Amino acid sequence: MTTLRTSLPLDRLRDEVSGAPPLPALSGERYALTHDAYEAASDQRPRLQDWLARELPPLLAEHDPVRVVGVGVGDGSVDAPLAAALAAGGRRVRYTGVEPHPPSAVGFAGRLAAIGADALTPSVVIGDFADHDAGHPADLVHFVHSLYYVNDLGAALDHALTMVRPGGLLVAATAPLEPLCALMELLCSWDGHRPWFAEDVRDELDLRGLDVHAETLVGHLDISDVLADPCGRGEAVFDFLVGARTAAMTTVLRRAVLAYLSEVALPDGSGKVPHPLDIMIVRVPRPAGTASS
Ligand SMILES: C[S@@+](CC[C@H](N)C(=O)[O-])C[C@H]1O[C@@H](n2cnc3c(N)ncnc32)[C@H](O)[C@@H]1O
Repeated sequence: MTTLRTSLPLDRLRDEVSGAPPLPALSGERYALTHDAYEAASDQRPRLQDWLARELPPLLAEHDPVRVVGVGVGDGSVDAPLAAALAAGGRRVRYTGVEPHPPSAVGFAGRLAAIGADALTPSVVIGDFADHDAGHPADLVHFVHSLYYVNDLGAALDHALTMVRPGGLLVAATAPLEPLCALMELLCSWDGHRPWFAEDVRDELDLRGLDVHAETLVGHLDISDVLADPCGRGEAVFDFLVGARTAAMTTVLRRAVLAYLSEVALPDGSGKVPHPLDIMIVRVPRPAGTASS
């Protein structure tokens, strides 16, 4: 069972939520729009793009072609810099994005095509990861901000592990259950399950006896518009934060959520909240006695 890494009082909010009707889910279109607004309000994205493009290529240096499967790639904004870095120097890259939301999948295809590297062969699979069969073993399977949503976390990780060839990498970038994500945990459910967070991912990897290297990227999300104008210019970021349509909140619940957000904001008056991301890297073991070529 995951517990929140904070001692901040959530009790008042919990009381309000327990008496309120469930909030309407975000449509696929609303999700994509609010995700863009959310990422634009945070400095986590450029840090993550830099990290992926800097740290992963050296870990995959021995592979040509290098085969990548990105799960839940959205519009490809974190995949494009990684694909470009892998293809630098003419190395052949086979890069597949799995994405259930068709317009986002089209965005992914466009971004990777725009890199214009002859050695890069992108492909996109529109659908749920659970239904995806990579065929050829991959050198890297990654989940960037996508494991929250899978129905069965253990099954998704097992599925990914069967796709990675021995010696290849499984990478999961997932937010920890910090004060920001506590809102989503309280207010949102997808297909009847609460979102999975980094602690859940770590537990599942540890259960499988895998050697996990973990890093945390610390970004900050600007919620000043949410606090000042939650039903207007702050609404998109507010919706994504909560994972549901905040316009349907009762006034009392909205007030409690905003009071909680004010409590977790930095004390410097900047209107920012910590926005950390845990990245876990697993090198899939080679069978005993095999060489590391
Ligand atoms: C927060 S977005 C992250 C997108 C992208 N990785 C990024 O960081 O910009 C999560 C993505 O996961 C996708 N997703 C949700 N459930 C999925 C599933 N079961 N299989 C594959 N992708 C899924 C969503 O459609 C969405 O594009």
